[in-house]
Amino acid sequence: MRVLSGIQPSGKLHIGNFFGAMRQHLQLQAENEGFYFIADYHALTTSPKPEMIRENTFGVAMDYLALGLDPEKTVFWRQSDVPEVTELAWILSCVTPMGLLQRCTSYKDKVDQGLSPVHGLFAYPVLQAADILIYDSNLVPVGQDQKQHIEVTRDIAIKFNNTYGETFVLPDEHILKSVAVVPGIDGRKMSKSYDNTIEIFEPENKVKKKIMRIKTDSTPVEDPKDSETCNAFALLKLVAPADELADWERQYREGGTGYGTVKKRVVELLHEYFRPYRQKREELENNRDYVEQVLCQGAHKARDVAAVTMKRVRDAIGLGDIRNA
Ligand code: ADP
Ligand code: TRP
Repeated sequence: MRVLSGIQPSGKLHIGNFFGAMRQHLQLQAENEGFYFIADYHALTTSPKPEMIRENTFGVAMDYLALGLDPEKTVFWRQSDVPEVTELAWILSCVTPMGLLQRCTSYKDKVDQGLSPVHGLFAYPVLQAADILIYDSNLVPVGQDQKQHIEVTRDIAIKFNNTYGETFVLPDEHILKSVAVVPGIDGRKMSKSYDNTIEIFEPENKVKKKIMRIKTDSTPVEDPKDSETCNAFALLKLVAPADELADWERQYREGGTGYGTVKKRVVELLHEYFRPYRQKREELENNRDYVEQVLCQGAHKARDVAAVTMKRVRDAIGLGDIRNA
């Protein structure tokens, strides 16, 4: 089974990205053919500064490698190193009904958040469809917020196949239902756009400060508390073993435990969770040539697969192609 996913280099990766997406990507690589890329073309839709794109791309690469992405087993590359994907995006855009894109909620959401209403932001789902279809992907593990884009991909592939004959593999979306939205320190969804994140690899003392500031309500220590709605508990759920979690749940029900105590335990558990990867992250930081080499090798492998699909596509639509000669 080929599993593909992309992550944008739009900032430093946070624990919402990890527990919501990366952890599943890393687990799936064991029993599948993993194809993971850093979506730098997509990141351009939000107009980041060139040095930010460069730096964040490296950051995402180092984070994935430190956390266990195995470049011997998994194809890992930078999206823009396979420019064929933009060619396919154009071809797909010629069969994509406008209505399909107009129904996508992410464009409207992002414009409401203050991003410029540029064409790339609107056409973003077509590029995402090209990412998925060019590599004959079977499974696309993404969070709930990306589900609509996978449905759009399927619709585009079906339209293309009906128009030009069977060309694309239809992907199944792999929605990670068990993963709740990870709250940020202000209680909203943790997101790079809200400045409320806990980065995976920021210094431990900073992580601690942020966790101690997480928004909780003003229930007095001795009163029972609602674990369902508590932001500190939501983080505890990500890292605490099941038996310990059951005990915290009881303490919430019975009262007598302050949020400060819970937060301190969250800090300890998060540190324990990520500590084994910190050293590797530091080593990579000092060995950027290696990181570049991994991305380069990944791009060559990805490009070989993309070339085969593009030949099929060009043949199907009747484009002459010197590359096929
Ligand atoms: P951000 O909102 O920080 O810009 P992205 O939109 O780049 O994050 O998301 C990258 C991946 O991480 C997606 O698959 C998304 O579903 C997942 N993700 C992002 N934030 C969270 C969160 N707070 N909780 C769970 N998953 C998340
Ligand atoms: N749009 C995805 C996000 O913002 C990133 C992405 C780009 C992606 N291309 C993809 C995810 C293809 C899965 C498959 O999170």
